Amino acid sequence: MLNRITMSPPVRIAIVGGGQLGKMMTTAAKQMGFHVTVLDPTPASPAGQVADRQVVAAFDDGEAIRAMAAEADVVTYEFEHIDSVSLIALEKSGQAVYPTPKILRVIQNKLTQKRALVEAGIPVAPFMPVPSRVDAEHAANSYGFPFLLKACTGGYDGKGNALVRDMDEINDAMAALGDCEIMAEKFVPFTCEVSVMVARSLNGDIKSYPLSENEHEENILRRSIVPARVTDKIADRARKAAESVMSTFSGVGVFCVEMFVTPEEEILINEVAPRPHNSGHYTIEACVTSQFEQQIRAITGLPLGDTKLVTPAVMINLLGEEGHNGSAVLEGCAAALALPGVHLHFYGKAMTASKRKMGHVTVTAPVLEEAMTIASKAQKMLRVIT
Ligand SMILES: Nc1ncnc2c1ncn2[C@@H]1O[C@H](COP(=O)(O)OP(=O)(O)O)[C@@H](O)[C@H]1O
Ligand SMILES: [Mg+2]
Repeated sequence: MLNRITMSPPVRIAIVGGGQLGKMMTTAAKQMGFHVTVLDPTPASPAGQVADRQVVAAFDDGEAIRAMAAEADVVTYEFEHIDSVSLIALEKSGQAVYPTPKILRVIQNKLTQKRALVEAGIPVAPFMPVPSRVDAEHAANSYGFPFLLKACTGGYDGKGNALVRDMDEINDAMAALGDCEIMAEKFVPFTCEVSVMVARSLNGDIKSYPLSENEHEENILRRSIVPARVTDKIADRARKAAESVMSTFSGVGVFCVEMFVTPEEEILINEVAPRPHNSGHYTIEACVTSQFEQQIRAITGLPLGDTKLVTPAVMINLLGEEGHNGSAVLEGCAAALALPGVHLHFYGKAMTASKRKMGHVTVTAPVLEEAMTIASKAQKMLRVIT
């Protein structure tokens, strides 16, 4: 068990996944002098471009993960859709893996995740397992229309969710989700969506970040506004809910807790991601300690850093323009960067595709409204094309 850190020789960190989250984790780790290896099937992945070394292998290549781990002091991951069984085996062999694979296993299945939250007394929308069509009808009768059918595993950016508006849509929705474990969830007529990044250290300290207000289009995060424009009461409830999620799972690292704010000003937990998150990118420029540095601190046994907000911030995602598939080019970069407080992150993915997350911009300004105005301007200028 890793419980002490010495800077010489440097701690070696292995990260499963070489996308943008891995890249930003790697950048934070390199800044602090750690050695980083990432594993990703795409050569010269975003994280591979900044890490000491990239292992080119599939995420389900247990042997490659084991070999990478053998040369590391601690293993972490940038996304939750990985084989928890091979990580559990790694941990059993004495390897430090954070967040622990046991938690990953509960969280990576939306049904077991929600059951764990309910057991801990944390409020979520009503849900039930749907092993067959009859159960979907039962869900429709209990929840009314619309309601959601969700694939229990493997979903992201709304892929894996189907909105059902009447009985006739059940068959199509189930077919669209394919041959997988399915659950139903009551539709929440939320007033807004918010998230809290929350960190927990090896010795159990918990620190949460300020509340982010998240706007999605077609289930993909487009804009995060911080601080969220909600009452102090709502922000306080959200923070408390996020912290109780973190102590329930005893997570080590940074987790994202996504929530709905209901018209009654209640908080319902939508889902938990056991890793830094897109809605926490603002922390890089707007908080004392970024979510990525925090992740590295937590998994290497260091104390957590200050999560205080230094400035209001608005984050917008740069998605691949529709109809453009191929070598990525960012248009409008010079114009956008001429605006005050614009911080550009372009991930270095070779190929763009429609709605693919290619980069993001965080705008900081002394007043939130100003950051929002500048972010809208920047958004109009920037296009990811071929
Ligand atoms: N029960 C629900 N009621 C209303 N909207 C929902 C519900 N569940 C999900 N959504 C909407 O769909 C989005 C994606 O759903 P989520 O379960 O978070 O899937 P993913 O794993 O793809 O992020 C949410 O951010 C929210 O906008
Ligand atoms: Mg989500």
